[in-house]
Amino acid sequence: MSDSNSGQIDNVMREDRIFPPHSSFSERAVIDSMEEYQRLYDRVKSDPEAYWEAEAKSELHWFEPFDSVLKKDGINVEWFGGGKTNICYNCLDRNIDAGHADRTAIIWEGEPGDTRTLTYRELHAEVCRFANVLKGLGVEPGDVVSIYMPMTPELAIAMLACVRIGAIHSVIFAGFSAEAIADRNNDASAKVQLTADGLWRRGKVIPLKETIDIALEKSPTVKHCVVLKRVNNDCKMVEGRDRWWHEAAADASENCDATPLDSEATSFILYTSGSTGKPKGIRHTTAGYNLWAKKTFQWVFDWRPDDIYWCTADCGWITGHSYVVYGPLAAGATMLMYEGAPNFPAENRFWDLVEKYKVSILYTAPTAIRAFVKWGDEHVDKHDLSSLRLLGTVGEGINPDTWMWYHEKIGGGRCPIVDTWWQTETGGIMMSPLPGAIPTKPGSCTKPLPGVMPVIVDESLQPVGVNQGGMLCIAEPWPGMLRGIWGDDDRCKEQYWSTCPGKYLTGDNARLDDDGYYWIMGRIDDVINVSGHRLSTIEVESAMVSHENVAECAAVGRPHDIKGQAIAVFITLKDAEASEAMRDALRLHVRKEIGALAVPDDIRFCEAVPKTRSGKIMRRLLRDIAAGREAAGDTSTLEDFSVLAKLRGDEE
Ligand code: WT7
Repeated sequence: MSDSNSGQIDNVMREDRIFPPHSSFSERAVIDSMEEYQRLYDRVKSDPEAYWEAEAKSELHWFEPFDSVLKKDGINVEWFGGGKTNICYNCLDRNIDAGHADRTAIIWEGEPGDTRTLTYRELHAEVCRFANVLKGLGVEPGDVVSIYMPMTPELAIAMLACVRIGAIHSVIFAGFSAEAIADRNNDASAKVQLTADGLWRRGKVIPLKETIDIALEKSPTVKHCVVLKRVNNDCKMVEGRDRWWHEAAADASENCDATPLDSEATSFILYTSGSTGKPKGIRHTTAGYNLWAKKTFQWVFDWRPDDIYWCTADCGWITGHSYVVYGPLAAGATMLMYEGAPNFPAENRFWDLVEKYKVSILYTAPTAIRAFVKWGDEHVDKHDLSSLRLLGTVGEGINPDTWMWYHEKIGGGRCPIVDTWWQTETGGIMMSPLPGAIPTKPGSCTKPLPGVMPVIVDESLQPVGVNQGGMLCIAEPWPGMLRGIWGDDDRCKEQYWSTCPGKYLTGDNARLDDDGYYWIMGRIDDVINVSGHRLSTIEVESAMVSHENVAECAAVGRPHDIKGQAIAVFITLKDAEASEAMRDALRLHVRKEIGALAVPDDIRFCEAVPKTRSGKIMRRLLRDIAAGREAAGDTSTLEDFSVLAKLRGDEE
């Protein structure tokens, strides 16, 4: 069992500050007191089916009504069986029918400062047009469309166009390499690729289409590629395969009825890392996912029609799916979407955007907040942030000092902070303060949302006592839960449902405090969290050993000021020189195999990777060494950990 975050446990244990919601916030909040929260929680717990039946009927449009709310058969669940709905219809047509056609849906700003706004009516027209483009390429319900695009309105349009016609999107974060794209395209048998000529990042063009050209050479199932012109760079267009977005869309009609889809139809897959080397395509559904994204958005962000909401996540991650696109649009929200880096042209870009667009709800990641702290208060001080009323975080635990800075410096002491715990697999937020109701404690995600039944168990599967850490499981199904791993339902069963039979295993450790507050304490497996993004140490190791000079590799996470965790690798070389040039070559290799996000911060060469007698890598020892907790001698040359390993014995 991993103890990678044990340092963090000590920290949060000492945290006893508590912040009740500001009365100016609670007075206007939908759920405005702890009693109100508890009433709702108990009501859903005592009769979940009655609650979700009523919510599904009032919050979603049904082309055909469902005939059951929840059916459970072992680990297989079915929500709203027999019903037919459509996520895109619920996000667009339903809001237009309700009289909000002229409400702004998306306010977009590109990194160079170009802007665009789309009302619900305009977004609907663009989505229908692009849905017709997809149909024209032969895309049918159940086909997989791979999306590798910058944070532009067209990325949201592409996702919505897919779900409108029942195509399954697989969004791949635009930082992944050609190899990583090809792996995902092949696993999913993707039929169509959507991309752009490039994107803007810190003033430079990242040529996405070049990467796609390499990826598509290895993606035989992909027959067509549609390319958005974003940066106007030269790019090669392959005759018969590639088309420009603007040309294809210009010819397409604005009329495209949403396809009625089964409640349980797969809406999208999203690849994420597990504890093996192979990323898994997490499979989400239509009705249950849609309802969960919408309800959790309304609850957690206490959303009101006059809010300007900004979630800074990229659509390449689940946060972008649920809280840039589907949750806010289903609710009828007005959102800000931003293409680029937080420090371009300067470190005040986020605060400039908040002031310019009068953002009222800001949802971002602890890693970004830590960078803001480091960049200095002067970038914040020159802006008027008084439009903000609520702040959120996601992706990893937030350390209490960073929480306090966010609260005071950005929130002016008046904005509640919602620390939202959830996962790609859960589809939406699972634990978070309801901002008008639940007093917050810096570093705790506080309480489960209505419908979420967490339990913490020890290794013998017994519930643990107060303040004792254990494995966090979810005891009952919820509408937004994953329904499988694409093409590998055995792996899904094994990974999530076998450790604690009948319960969903989150992979996180957690503890419950005296007040019934949850504290997440890091992973139980070899998943590391770099800047809020999940990576498996084994993925990095596999990439490393695929380099011709590497004999063996062990990758571990170590604490990092900004990223939360950084990757440290220990390498044994095959007859090659340990040198700075070799380090550079290995970094380049990982960038090519996975992408920039997986490039290790530390590369250390050693005589041998220390192992137990049974051959297991001594990860705990390596973690300690990587974190500098254990002196390991001269790091400029080959290191020999065998002595340390012997001293430690075979404890792992
Ligand atoms: C893992 C999920 C959820 C969208 C972004 C990441 C960690 C996430 C928190 C939080 C402590 C957190 C967990 C979780 N995590 N949010 N508020 N406090 N830890 O999605 O890539 O699926 O990663 O991120 O370890 O299991 P993901």
